[in-house]
Amino acid sequence: MEVHLWRGSPEQRALRDQSRPTGQFAYFDIQLGHPNWEGKSVLDYGGNRGNLLLNPDCVIRHEQYYCMDVLQEAIDEGRERFPKARWVHYNRYNCSFNPEGIEGLPVPDLGIRFDFILAFSVFTHTTREELYDLVGQLRSRLAPGGTLAFTFIDPHFRSWPETHAANNLQWRLERFRETNRSLDVDVLLVRSLGAAWCALVDGRQIFVNSSGAWENEAQTCMTYDVFYTAKFLQREFPDAEILPPVKGQMQHCCILRSSALPDA
Ligand SMILES: C[S@@+](CC[C@H](N)C(=O)[O-])C[C@H]1O[C@@H](n2cnc3c(N)ncnc32)[C@H](O)[C@@H]1O
Repeated sequence: MEVHLWRGSPEQRALRDQSRPTGQFAYFDIQLGHPNWEGKSVLDYGGNRGNLLLNPDCVIRHEQYYCMDVLQEAIDEGRERFPKARWVHYNRYNCSFNPEGIEGLPVPDLGIRFDFILAFSVFTHTTREELYDLVGQLRSRLAPGGTLAFTFIDPHFRSWPETHAANNLQWRLERFRETNRSLDVDVLLVRSLGAAWCALVDGRQIFVNSSGAWENEAQTCMTYDVFYTAKFLQREFPDAEILPPVKGQMQHCCILRSSALPDA
């Protein structure tokens, strides 16, 4: 999902709706080894309008599903669609999704600890500094025995080797080239060779091992994509379990478990 589609014309919004994947629940269910979701509280962090619940196999009870997102409009739509679920607007700054938000605003305390905190394709759009800050805060919101799982995209990984020779970064750049014919994908790819992580600003500027910069005064950019290699994230989160993509997705999964033991 692209932010310009969210903010765009009715036609663009219709296009966005068509392209939204609904496999997030099945993805986490597999990555987490088919856990027992029954009676478990779930925070869908950066959950947009609750796409996780759209999966036909989703067994999370709406009453125990919390969605927190920086996009007010998404939260409003989600609440309308799934009124029994809990919807929280988190007015934190994000350069493309919520440029009017408050920088560094702490994650609101919802008064409960979660059995699962899931974040699909969220830290693919925040700076590395924010990744550390937010993962640290979210970990502290886990119930004893709880699990935090978030996805990330490895720039050098080939997600669909049978059908696409391109790695994830190349695939993404090629999508951007569809609307920006002058984009020199090869030059950007050469620049990214060997990067442990990189940021792509507005689909055309690449920053290697750096969160990058966007120069306008409003501190806004239309699209902001961050890529981490699996090796890099494993080094940054040594106690994490890092798993390759499943279900035809391009996203790896980073799983962090609460250090505290579940209540007896
Ligand atoms: C690519 S969308 C993914 C949405 C949803 N997880 C899904 O899979 O359909 C990224 C979402 O992350 C949200 N987001 C970005 N920065 C955030 C932050 N710091 N905290 C919470 N949500 C954030 C955006 O508003 C957007 O809804």
